[in-house]
Amino acid sequence: MALTFMEIWLISLIFLTGIIILVVTLQLNAALKKLSQDPQAPAEEELSWWEKFKGLKPLEQERELIMEHTYDGIAELDNPTPPWFMYLFYSTIIFGLIYGAYYHVYQDGNIQEAEYKTEVAAAEKAREAYMKKFANSVNEDNVVVVKEAKDLTEGSQIYSTNCVACHGDKGQGGVGPNLTDKFWIHGGGIKDLFKTITHGVPEKGMIAWEKTLNPLQIQKVASYILTLQGTNPPGAKEPQGEEVK
Ligand code: HEC
Repeated sequence: MALTFMEIWLISLIFLTGIIILVVTLQLNAALKKLSQDPQAPAEEELSWWEKFKGLKPLEQERELIMEHTYDGIAELDNPTPPWFMYLFYSTIIFGLIYGAYYHVYQDGNIQEAEYKTEVAAAEKAREAYMKKFANSVNEDNVVVVKEAKDLTEGSQIYSTNCVACHGDKGQGGVGPNLTDKFWIHGGGIKDLFKTITHGVPEKGMIAWEKTLNPLQIQKVASYILTLQGTNPPGAKEPQGEEVK
């Protein structure tokens, strides 16, 4: 993703502010320390970096930390916040700045919403692949009539879109035969219909639908056609083919 001028400006501003805050805090800290030191005190002996990191006074120097007040003879030590803790604190500030810039200004990071969308898209693809496999698992040997209202509604929609022109809006027939009577040219079982619709009868003007519809859709439209049996719509075409009982 390319950065716009505005974004570069914003990132720079955030980083600059962060660095200024950091420097000022460190400087103030050092100045305060100097102020609180007794100028007459002997110079501090060199401490190892580990001692400095821990920031704890050796036991023998603890006397310097005693605060003025006492309660029933019990004194309190003024232990400063140890440096390791302060470093941790500064590092969270730096982390926060980088995180904010990466995820919210630059927006290169996969924030939750984007991550969610990526995953949904992947799942959708997987679902489609599965549905395709599933759709192709229906064929002219194993096809059965579907009876669920949802499937039949889909079947009727497929019929309205593709078949009405030749078979009539109620299946009464037109260029194509009447699909509501008991007479069939190519057989009236679900397997026969599935076969006729899939391969068509090209020489007689019935299209092979396998290129337009998947097997599941053909199963649904064939099942829908079978629900039209005996509806005897007005203007029904004369019977063609043989009577199927
Ligand atoms: C371009 C016109 C046309 C369209 C569109 C059409 N058909 Fe046909 N259909 C025909 C013709 C013509 C026949 C008769 C074929 C024959 O005489 O063998 C036929 C036959 C059939 C048969 C067999 C009827 C029998 O008596 O055996 C079925 C089932 C059928 N069509 C279903 C469909 C379905 C489902 C669709 C839509 C997906 C459809 N048709 C779209 C023209 C069409």
